[in-house]
Amino acid sequence: MLFLQNGKRFLRYVSASYKCRCKSNATLSTLKNKIQHGPGLKEFIEESNGISEVITHPPHIPYLPDNIQNISKRKVYFDVYGCQMNLNDTEIVWSILKNEGFEKTEIEEDADIFLVMTCAIREGAETKIWHRLDHLRGFKNRRAASKNRNKPVKIGILGCMAERLKEKLIEKEKSVDVVAGPDSYRDLPRLLALTENGQTAVNVLLSLDETYADVVPVRLNQDSISAFISIMRGCDNMCTYCIVPFTRGRERSRPVSSIVDEVRHLSDSGVKEVTLLGQNVNSYRDITEKTEKNDTQLAEGFKTVYKHKKGGLRFADLLDKVSSVNPEMRIRFTAAHPKDFPDEVLQMISERPNICKLLHLPAQSGSSAVLERMRRGYTREAYLRLAERVRDVIPGVGLSTDMICGFCGETDEEFEETLSLMELVDYNVAFLFPYSMREKTTAYRRYKDDVPEPVKKERHHRMLELYRRKCQKLNDAEIGNIHLVLVEGVVPKTGQILGRNEFYIKVLFDQTEIPSESGMRGVKPGDYVGVRIVAAKCSSLSGVPLYHTSIREFYKEYSWGERAALRV
Ligand code: SAH
Ligand code: SF4
Ligand code: F3S
Repeated sequence: MLFLQNGKRFLRYVSASYKCRCKSNATLSTLKNKIQHGPGLKEFIEESNGISEVITHPPHIPYLPDNIQNISKRKVYFDVYGCQMNLNDTEIVWSILKNEGFEKTEIEEDADIFLVMTCAIREGAETKIWHRLDHLRGFKNRRAASKNRNKPVKIGILGCMAERLKEKLIEKEKSVDVVAGPDSYRDLPRLLALTENGQTAVNVLLSLDETYADVVPVRLNQDSISAFISIMRGCDNMCTYCIVPFTRGRERSRPVSSIVDEVRHLSDSGVKEVTLLGQNVNSYRDITEKTEKNDTQLAEGFKTVYKHKKGGLRFADLLDKVSSVNPEMRIRFTAAHPKDFPDEVLQMISERPNICKLLHLPAQSGSSAVLERMRRGYTREAYLRLAERVRDVIPGVGLSTDMICGFCGETDEEFEETLSLMELVDYNVAFLFPYSMREKTTAYRRYKDDVPEPVKKERHHRMLELYRRKCQKLNDAEIGNIHLVLVEGVVPKTGQILGRNEFYIKVLFDQTEIPSESGMRGVKPGDYVGVRIVAAKCSSLSGVPLYHTSIREFYKEYSWGERAALRV
């Protein structure tokens, strides 16, 4: 179907919901015959040089154009913005493109294709990307005017901003050639091939079942001792301020078996830490596996906007399987939602030494009235009860949060409640944001973004100050204690060793030989080291390395809880 849009010609796939209105069967069969034997979509696209292709509705008919060979040797440069899921998605994209023969470069001048993995969570995130696009447009124009003009630069926008803006992105930034949303990465080789003839191509279809379960991500940093694994995609929570359900679509989980296989593969290749990723990892549910167990209900004081889901393997089952792959591999997970922390999940975290004892409990606000407007599905009281329960079941647990200030209608008193919640719950880590209104969200339609910018700024500043003061106090209390640190590498500027403790807080120390099972030796990435903390800042600790160890060895004498209680 061809139509004109802003003076530009676009080609759209005929929507699945398009119904033939012919009354007679004879006419219908003639039409069917014509469709079967007439020119196909492929011929149409090939003939329509210069015509853009936009896919926003099913059906999605993937095939590779014949000219795929021309483009597949091209060098791709990745730019990654946004959350950890974007990093992992880039690894999925790279896996797909590598399979088709594309190459990767980290040098801009060598690149033929720039793929920008984008974020749309706040206006600021998008502003950064527009600036990057200004730079890339200049680069593309310079290449077009240079002696290398026979190798034109292509620009592809992937991820959440691509999904949010769709074809509008190309209308606004003419230098963009491809727009691909989070569920259409399998289609990228084809979309890129289409650009060979000067076409632009858009695929922003969201899927109900795409999890890329069969795509083995190719890690961008092969030397890293840690890796990310997406266990689920999308979000059904529809918090009123949030764009994610619109950019990432409905919640769906990847089968347990494919996750466990990937963890095993990473463990075999020397990875020491995996982070399970998703918008709400703890609402994970593998419905391909049948279970006899009764499904846990939400804790008192928590509710959802969607119908309670039933059956399948849950997050506790997944944690059980994943943490059993290699007891020396650290398991982390993010992001979590406070509604999905039944006791069986807390017990599992508590009893497995290799599951890190830092729980992300994003509160978003300390005021029940604001939480209601945000549609978070809990009150301040229910949240505080949960924090207490978590501390009971996992003594010494670390907590982290996300907080938003200046949400629609937030009064001074309501903001004070956020500060008081932060006073009550000692957060080890916090991500604090001033509210940014996003089009399409319920808040955009229903509420007014009425907290003035200077007030938002001032509240943000006050949250940051409180957080820094409190977390400095928490870190100071660790001086003298021994932490289990997983070594990541060397800080280039200072030459110091950088590692992370249970709570993912940076721990820095000088390289030196320390005792190990096989005598004295220095420290390398992937080593577990017992480090005595000697100095603390808000976001990092410094220490003295004492000995090489392992997770099992370190927690042999005392369990995590006993250690925490004794502050060893
Ligand atoms: N699914 C995750 C994370 C989503 S995005 C979760 O629920 O925890 C990460 C954080 O960005 C959110 O937790 C929230 O604190 C913040 N955020 C989301 N939308 C925002 C907006 N419109 N303005 C400011 N911060 C926002
Ligand atoms: Fe956004 Fe809420 Fe979903 Fe998190 S849980 S991604 S904040 S809608
Ligand atoms: Fe941004 Fe999308 Fe992640 S909006 S935070 S990249 S899920």
